[in-house]
Amino acid sequence: MLLKELINKIPDIEFQEGADITKMTTFRLESKADLAIVKTTEALSTLIKILKQNKVHYLILGMGANQILPQKVDGLIINLKFNFDQNILSELHDEYVIPASVTLNHLTSAAVRHGLSGWEVFTGIPASLGGAIYMNAGTTLGEIGSLIKEVYLIDKFGEYKTHEVTEKSFSYRRNHFVEHGDVIIGAKIFHRGKDDQIPGKIKSYLEYRKTTQPLATKNCGCVFKNPSKLYQAGRLIDQLGLKGFRNGGLQVSLKHANFVENQSNSNWDQFRDLTEAIKWQMNMFYGIEFELEVKIPYH
Ligand code: EPU
Repeated sequence: MLLKELINKIPDIEFQEGADITKMTTFRLESKADLAIVKTTEALSTLIKILKQNKVHYLILGMGANQILPQKVDGLIINLKFNFDQNILSELHDEYVIPASVTLNHLTSAAVRHGLSGWEVFTGIPASLGGAIYMNAGTTLGEIGSLIKEVYLIDKFGEYKTHEVTEKSFSYRRNHFVEHGDVIIGAKIFHRGKDDQIPGKIKSYLEYRKTTQPLATKNCGCVFKNPSKLYQAGRLIDQLGLKGFRNGGLQVSLKHANFVENQSNSNWDQFRDLTEAIKWQMNMFYGIEFELEVKIPYH
């Protein structure tokens, strides 16, 4: 039986061959892929078993704010859309078990509603919980890893497993436990009690971002990791006068130099050439090896 027929047989999966997934990323680089929208963990487990048997490579795409995809993706894109009862977040609990597909915006709303200390770190990050945990997303307010107690995964054999978080589980923009082929399906999150200052903190942080970052444009967030706390990528790129530097429809943002804006139809190749040129200049002038913050799965 053809692979697409096998996938179509799994309940709770919507499968599309050669889908245009350009609009599934915030950066809108032109991209096509076979796409499976998966609504339950059982369906995901079955799907992964089938993909393993057929040696098909797969990639999880969350809110698509942090992955740079090629024009034609080789393999299957999996988008998780698990059911979630929003009422859970309306109630105050010490910890919450949340599916990976829930977006951080929902967690920020709960943080404002209850004044949950620690949860200000979710503010303004365009990500699903799974994507954010995968890369230990963060802002100047902190990193997501510091709030996670357990991570639930399905491994490359389609089996369930749990990772108990320790101080070794995360570092700057990285996790140290997701193995090749693993998919994060959910997590247990805690907070540090109630704090009346949290709603105000979140509001002023959102305003800070609005004035310093090109939020209304098509972009992929910060492109490079900060080489250190002292040397922020945005400042270094700006100091070299690279704001406005272009390749095709891509331009280094005039508002924040660690953002690249997609102003017309652009693609993976153009992004690679632009970022390589920036990296080269950073190395030449500062002797610093810049590292991408965004993920390029097909390198
Ligand atoms: N700066 C410049 N020129 C620029 C941009 C920044 O001089 O064009 C200076 C700023 O004035 C500031 C310093 O560089 O003194 C740092 O800038 P900012 O406060 O914007 O923070 P950042 O280090 O550039 C980090 C995260 C962002 C997050 C912001 C705000 C990284 C790589 N970036 O940026 O995260 O939104 O803090 O909390 O850690 C992302 O993850 O996609 C992202 C954008």
